[in-house]
Amino acid sequence: MTQAIRPIRPLVAGNWKMNGLKADLAEALRVRDAVSAPGADLGADVLICPPVTLLQALAEAASGSKLLVGAQDCAAAASGPHTGDLSAEMLRDAGAVATIVGHSERRAAHGELDRVVRRKAEAAYRAGLAAIVCVGETSGERQSGLTLEIVGRQLSASLPDVATAANTIVAYEPIWAIGTGLTPTPADVAEVHSAMREVLVKRFGAEGARMRLLYGGSVKPDNAAEIGSIVDVDGALVGGASLKSNDFLAIIATYKN
Ligand code: 13P
Repeated sequence: MTQAIRPIRPLVAGNWKMNGLKADLAEALRVRDAVSAPGADLGADVLICPPVTLLQALAEAASGSKLLVGAQDCAAAASGPHTGDLSAEMLRDAGAVATIVGHSERRAAHGELDRVVRRKAEAAYRAGLAAIVCVGETSGERQSGLTLEIVGRQLSASLPDVATAANTIVAYEPIWAIGTGLTPTPADVAEVHSAMREVLVKRFGAEGARMRLLYGGSVKPDNAAEIGSIVDVDGALVGGASLKSNDFLAIIATYKN
């Protein structure tokens, strides 16, 4: 179950959600400085997705460093009468290189269905952003033994046909593990990730074999190494623990070259 040699460069991504004022940029700058320090053994790409209000400032501060900056959502349209929405082009213009789409909090609170998530991923590609497409089951679905079916269906319906290993990252985030301190067993994570890999290889061939599959949901410094060592786990999508540089750096440090 443990991967000895990593075939895919992992990604550790921080999702700040609706947290962070200007003063909190200092935490992200500490991450930037630590990951960019000469001699840092950085075994993963590192991305922070701050709230949009901080995106441009962080992207400018991170320019030329090893820290990548992303967004948490994008609209499907490129421009037009969509009050309050932000297009992928705007996010790219502000300095984002990627955007999360289909996070369960948006699926739940904004009624985003798979087909909407798919259009948002297409919008991300159109603007030159990578899409981090989130999928995951509820606790009820897990208890009913529906996890693989639900995740497989979300994956198939949320990913555009033109998804590649370069423009798409998949994040498996069991909804019941988000912000709860609960995590699936390593065997459960391995089962879902290998099922996702199978779905992706079947549909996208070699691109599917190389697509990064992140695990998200209560990733902390003390469980990151175990989760990151599971076959077909190519990094982490971190919520709460990405807000504090010490915790986020401790998670990043579990990925060594
Ligand atoms: P937590 O790490 O706080 O559980 O959040 C996970 C998540 O939703 C990341 O997108």
